[in-house]
Amino acid sequence: MMNNDNDYASAAQLLRNARHVVILTGAGISAQSGIPTFRDALTGFWKSFDPQQLATAAAFRDNPALVWGWYEWRRQLVKQARPNAAHHALVALSRRVPHVTVITQNVDDLHERAGSTEVVHLHGNINRPRCFACARGYDAVPCDTGELNGGPQEPPRCLRCNGRIRPGVVWFGEPLPQAELRLALKAAKICDLLISIGTSGVVYPAATLPGLARDHGAAVVHINTDSIEVQTDLLLQGSADACLIRLLALAFGNTAIN
Ligand code: OAD
Repeated sequence: MMNNDNDYASAAQLLRNARHVVILTGAGISAQSGIPTFRDALTGFWKSFDPQQLATAAAFRDNPALVWGWYEWRRQLVKQARPNAAHHALVALSRRVPHVTVITQNVDDLHERAGSTEVVHLHGNINRPRCFACARGYDAVPCDTGELNGGPQEPPRCLRCNGRIRPGVVWFGEPLPQAELRLALKAAKICDLLISIGTSGVVYPAATLPGLARDHGAAVVHINTDSIEVQTDLLLQGSADACLIRLLALAFGNTAIN
């Protein structure tokens, strides 16, 4: 018996009994797909890049080419990445539980490409830019250069007002998209289990969701490679893919992930 067998057994029991599960994901779930996290030592984006120079409206105003080029590099990384076993396991999970809401802080589309539907993107979507001046939204990046060099690139211009097009992500100091935030808060209040996967839980308001769910009577399970502080919640420590596969097999049998 491994020493966390009891935690897995408890989490599997919670999952089997759940009617509405909220899945809250962070950068850790996409790490196995080759997309860096933000705060992991050595590999995290914010270890090599200054968010104040790249992820604020002021930075875009000061140096739009630098900011646009950096996000284009990240968008190309996402484009070349593939959903991993953790993204696929969540699709399998959604077939076993009456109601699943996937809420992600990630701006990639790996949940959708794995087959998850109705993903709530709390921090925006890197494939959906909008005009910095008039806010017109775009379903794709106009003039996709396909380049993965991270160098400065002039942002494309808006077809409506000729303003600069900005990445469709939430920057520091900006509010979250209100409709998505409302959906997330509501789901956290009514779910009976929230599983938080691959997030450091330091960025608000996303970080309030586990506590909100707990305060409304839900159980909370964290999946993380790190030994994060989880108070009264359960922690399954390990990589998201391995943890989810083990959890689903325990809850629903070995065929659950097929
Ligand atoms: P972080 O980089 O802060 O945290 C990633 C978490 O994933 C850490 O706790 C890691 O221990 C864990 N982790 C790493 N690899 C993992 C794996 N294979 N399996 C499971 N866990 C793993 O990323 P987020 O919490 O997503 O915001 O960061 C939140 C927000 O901060 C991001 O959405 C972004 C950033 O600034 C904006 O850009 C608005």
